[in-house]
Amino acid sequence: MPKAPAITSHDPLPLKDKTILVTGGAQGIGRGIAQAVLAAGGRVGIGDLDAEAGKACIEEWQVGPRAHFTVLDVAREASVRRWMASALRHFGRIDGLVNNAGIANPHAAPLAELALADWNRYLATNLTGAFLCSKHALPELHKRGGAIVNIASTRALQSEPDTEAYAASKGGLVAFTHALAISSGPDVRVNAILPGWIATDAWRRPDLRSAPKLSRRDHAQHPVGRVGTPEDIGALAVYLLSSRSGFVTGQHFVVDGGMTVKMQYA
Ligand SMILES: NC(=O)c1ccc[n+]([C@@H]2O[C@H](COP(=O)([O-])OP(=O)(O)OC[C@H]3O[C@@H](n4cnc5c(N)ncnc54)[C@H](O)[C@@H]3O)[C@@H](O)[C@H]2O)c1
Repeated sequence: MPKAPAITSHDPLPLKDKTILVTGGAQGIGRGIAQAVLAAGGRVGIGDLDAEAGKACIEEWQVGPRAHFTVLDVAREASVRRWMASALRHFGRIDGLVNNAGIANPHAAPLAELALADWNRYLATNLTGAFLCSKHALPELHKRGGAIVNIASTRALQSEPDTEAYAASKGGLVAFTHALAISSGPDVRVNAILPGWIATDAWRRPDLRSAPKLSRRDHAQHPVGRVGTPEDIGALAVYLLSSRSGFVTGQHFVVDGGMTVKMQYA
């Protein structure tokens, strides 16, 4: 009879020697993901519109060549090309991509007053940005196998009024995730995380940083008893980027402290 598989302990550094690129990685959830990648033994290339925030990360992290920053606008293909080329020159390889950059404020305007330019702005950053970065990362990811993680939102599934552009961009990102998972396998896996309420105030660049101003009610309405943090998203991103999630692709995962499963009748 063959022996039963042995008990094997988990690798404490699941991203050791992996290079992960994170868009919008200089502040907020993106910075949380970038730090989780570093904590998991990886190298991180952050691209962000905000040069000050990017420089502050490099100064504060003190990890030498394990981190690299380039100014990036995910909505512009030339900028995405430059970012990939610069990261590749620095690291020599790309093993993972996190499409996190987004216009994070969901509230735009009532639909009848929503300017086409504003609708296009949401779609360009939140959805087209993920397309452009994935397109230009894929040739490298295919070389050794890799993973893409898209940061969508629970607003892909449920809504408040006047959030159509944001919700549509995030719903599009979920569909983009399963479509790309089917096209890019077996060597590249693609998954999405749908964060709920994540407090990012403490994760901004130094001059904009503050302690989160959250009430007891803000925390208590969540079934887990608290608002989320960028670390909550970073933890799942590390799993989805590592080989431990090797049988997981095309999926989306809600990380919202239980808010979307809480039944509410006003
Ligand atoms: N914070 C939340 O509660 C929450 C909830 C669900 C989903 N999300 C999503 O998570 C992602 C990050 O949100 P956040 O709250 O950390 O936002 P944030 O505004 O704190 O950080 C976003 C970062 O992306 C950068 N960025 C914006 N546009 C860019 C562009 N065109 N190119 C490159 N970089 C750009 C910004 O400079 C900033 O550093 C977004 O996609 C957002 O929609 C956030």
